[in-house]
Amino acid sequence: MSSKLVYRTLRPVLSSSLQFTGLGTGPGIRGHIISHLPTVRFFSSVTSSPASENNQPENPIRTVDGKVISTYWGIPPAKITKPDGSAWKWNCFQPWDSYKPDVSIDVTKHHKPSNFTDKFAYWTVQTLKIPVHLFFQRKHMCHAMLLETVAAVPGMVGGMLLHLKSLRRFEHSGGWIKALLEEAENERMHLMTFIELSQPKWYERAIVFTVQGVFFNAYFLAYVVSPKLAHRITGYLEEEAVNSYTEFLEDIDAGKFENSPAPAIAIDYWRLPRDATLRDVVYVIRADEAHHRDINHYASDIQFKGHELKEAPAPVGYH
Ligand SMILES: [Fe+2]
Ligand SMILES: [Fe+2]
Repeated sequence: MSSKLVYRTLRPVLSSSLQFTGLGTGPGIRGHIISHLPTVRFFSSVTSSPASENNQPENPIRTVDGKVISTYWGIPPAKITKPDGSAWKWNCFQPWDSYKPDVSIDVTKHHKPSNFTDKFAYWTVQTLKIPVHLFFQRKHMCHAMLLETVAAVPGMVGGMLLHLKSLRRFEHSGGWIKALLEEAENERMHLMTFIELSQPKWYERAIVFTVQGVFFNAYFLAYVVSPKLAHRITGYLEEEAVNSYTEFLEDIDAGKFENSPAPAIAIDYWRLPRDATLRDVVYVIRADEAHHRDINHYASDIQFKGHELKEAPAPVGYH
């Protein structure tokens, strides 16, 4: 039996069993719909459907602007819709990544530095704050955008190093890899929101490029040497982020900054009402930063008490 004949015989059976087991078409997560039509390939890279033999690919992979990238791999484009049936327009996050933020969190909390490591972390952040404030002053949009390019680094570095540690030691992470990567992703979504409102100028891109190169390596080394110091530094950075967004809110309330409509990406990500404004967006971002503050001080506290992160419950999904 030729490979093509085997493929044609098995394909309908495999497709139906994939659908039966939920891997095919079916309802998605939390009321959203994802439609995948799996194409199973065997033996040969040559597609065997009659359509393909006529040089008309049955399931081409396209870019967002419709250009065909590949007809070979058979990966179906996900068709994701909102609960109301309209198309999901974002490819930087999915409906199940969205959430209703907990804005009841205390935004005034502060970890009082009590030992040398704490004081070192606190004064490092206070020193870094001086040039940042001199440069940005009350240019909130610009400040927020550049701040977020830095804020998304620690979670990724911590998550990556814990991932490698888990592999190296053949042990579980206790959920902390996921918690830290979630934080990094949440910070990146803050950035994706701000770039809907303002585009960086060439010199701001140059600053980000330089700062990322320095900060990533410095934080990486700090985390390798002392994870509890690294988390404490991030905890204090998040405290400063909360303070910056509080100033942003004060200037919006005082009429010094236009309270424009919220960008659509923010409405979908934080499940905000349709008539939400920039103030609502800054308000929920500040709540996110307060959650990051707590996660990082908590991570530091666990290690100061002589434990490893995996021994304490990881704040997965903590928003
Ligand atoms: Fe942020
Ligand atoms: Fe943050």
